Amino acid sequence: ANVQAEGAEILGFEGIAPTPADVDAVKVPAGFEWNATSYWGQPLKAGAPELDFENQTEAAQKEQVGYNADFVTVIPTGDNTAILGFNNEYVNPELMWQSVADGEDMTDEQIKVTMAAHGLTIIGLKRKDADSFYEHDLSSPVNRRIHMHTEFAISGPAAGHELMKTSADPTGTVAYGTNNNCAGGLTPWGTIISGEENWHGYFASAGAPAEMAEEIERYGMGEEGRFQWEKVEDRFSMAAEPNETHRFGYIVEIDPADPTSTPVKHTALGRFKHEGGNTIIAADGHAVTYMGDDERFEYVYKFVSKDKYVEGDKKHNMTLLSEGDLYVATFTGDGFEDGVCDGTGVWKPLVKDGKSMVDGMSVAEVLIFTRMAADKVGATKMDRPEDVEPNPVNGRIYAAMTNNSKRSPSEIDEPNPRAENKHGHIVEIAEAGGDHTATEFQWALVLIAGDPNDPDTYFAGYDKSQVAPISCPDNVAFDSKGNLWIATDGMPGTLGHCDALYIMPVDGEDRGKLQQFLSVPAGAECCGPWIGYDGTSVFIAVQHPGEVDDASPANPVSKFPYDGLGQPRPGVVEVKRQGGGPVIDTGVTNS
Ligand code: FEO
Ligand code: CA
Ligand code: CA
Ligand code: CA
Repeated sequence: ANVQAEGAEILGFEGIAPTPADVDAVKVPAGFEWNATSYWGQPLKAGAPELDFENQTEAAQKEQVGYNADFVTVIPTGDNTAILGFNNEYVNPELMWQSVADGEDMTDEQIKVTMAAHGLTIIGLKRKDADSFYEHDLSSPVNRRIHMHTEFAISGPAAGHELMKTSADPTGTVAYGTNNNCAGGLTPWGTIISGEENWHGYFASAGAPAEMAEEIERYGMGEEGRFQWEKVEDRFSMAAEPNETHRFGYIVEIDPADPTSTPVKHTALGRFKHEGGNTIIAADGHAVTYMGDDERFEYVYKFVSKDKYVEGDKKHNMTLLSEGDLYVATFTGDGFEDGVCDGTGVWKPLVKDGKSMVDGMSVAEVLIFTRMAADKVGATKMDRPEDVEPNPVNGRIYAAMTNNSKRSPSEIDEPNPRAENKHGHIVEIAEAGGDHTATEFQWALVLIAGDPNDPDTYFAGYDKSQVAPISCPDNVAFDSKGNLWIATDGMPGTLGHCDALYIMPVDGEDRGKLQQFLSVPAGAECCGPWIGYDGTSVFIAVQHPGEVDDASPANPVSKFPYDGLGQPRPGVVEVKRQGGGPVIDTGVTNS
């Protein structure tokens, strides 16, 4: 097969060709244009300070857009107004300051700046009309930063447990800050949920109590914290404040419309390296949230709320994630002989009807040490579960397995069919009877990523001479027609291409016809994505532009968003057709 270098026509645009990994540009299809909507260091509201690159302070950063945007959501509040919410997953000190580059330690103030640059950014947007780009409304009342000193309520069965109590919070019900918020979702009731992913890296395990050895092993805390936070706050030292670590690793929920609201950490959805969560209302009204634990050989989970969704009652609906059943997935293959990777699966309960289903563990222990609980019930070890999201049109669930360099030939199974899986794959799950609360499902791999010339790739059976190369699927999203959008994290290291955003129909005759929509600058990962509610915008995050081995802080490989500062500033990009109009052209009028 000969892969089409320039991409093929799909849904009204021409797919773009792969971008060599050293190209510092945002590439979009012919006839499209892009705009940087919001990026690191911009003032959050009128009167907030501009970024003073050489003299950053914690106080200024708390009033500025955070670093390393990941999950992106855009919530309409009118025809031409909206709320933009995005995660600020982590930071690149070597690109935030030229002085940190040579391996020098950060100053205490620099460490505090990194704490303030984590969390989430929520801003108001306005635009002239549907054909224009959105702009940050500096006077919007919703403009807000969530950072490492924002107070969170701890909810659910583990709230108040002995393992949650610290010297700053003897009640075990109030947490301070969120970090490593990776992917996320917009709930049907209009709140943002996001996953605390690699939080373990922020805790220094040196001198931790001996009884924490098993959890340190299973969750992977190192001797020192990733950004030296333990130097400025004792709580990041497990010797000084052992339980603080039990208060991170959750799905958090934020009401972006109310800047005075207290965000919540939901223990009922378990504690692991949450990639994110996506929620759908089952036919009988229960809220069902699908989740991945992003590490090699980890698991896919789902939560089913005890109570039911009530249309229009946000206050009630914001209690749904506080109580319910937690399940972990097992995937069984039906044999490779049929030529496709597929089979059946079971959602195994960890907590059900308020009771622990795991021998020797209380409900609170299952929810705090969820990885150990899932080990005990024999969940299926997957190739790094990232975004897991239900398709609102066909009802099936799509789970991105980004890659797994450590899977050995003897560990191959049908749901993870390749050893040293460099390129990743996507699992398509159909719940029994189409019921999201079901405990059994069928599954099939819909994409086995890589260079389509490679015989072990699979594009849902589509003609591989007509599809684009792709590697390391991470974030997924759907447009209003149910087409799957896939953003990647890691292609520079596998295919030698810039990370990118793709579209792949999953129903009809074009099922599997994957085409590339855009690529992000050198060193960046493509996050988001979010398809604007009126179909005229695609939003993505350009995360960690310029992040390469041996990055030169004085001359970074990316200067996105090309504002003249000379340093990369991660942020959110909106893509539109020149002159406006629907991004995808299905030839069908929206009903
Ligand atoms: Fe933050 Fe799993 O990517
Ligand atoms: Ca099979
Ligand atoms: Ca991710
Ligand atoms: Ca990732």
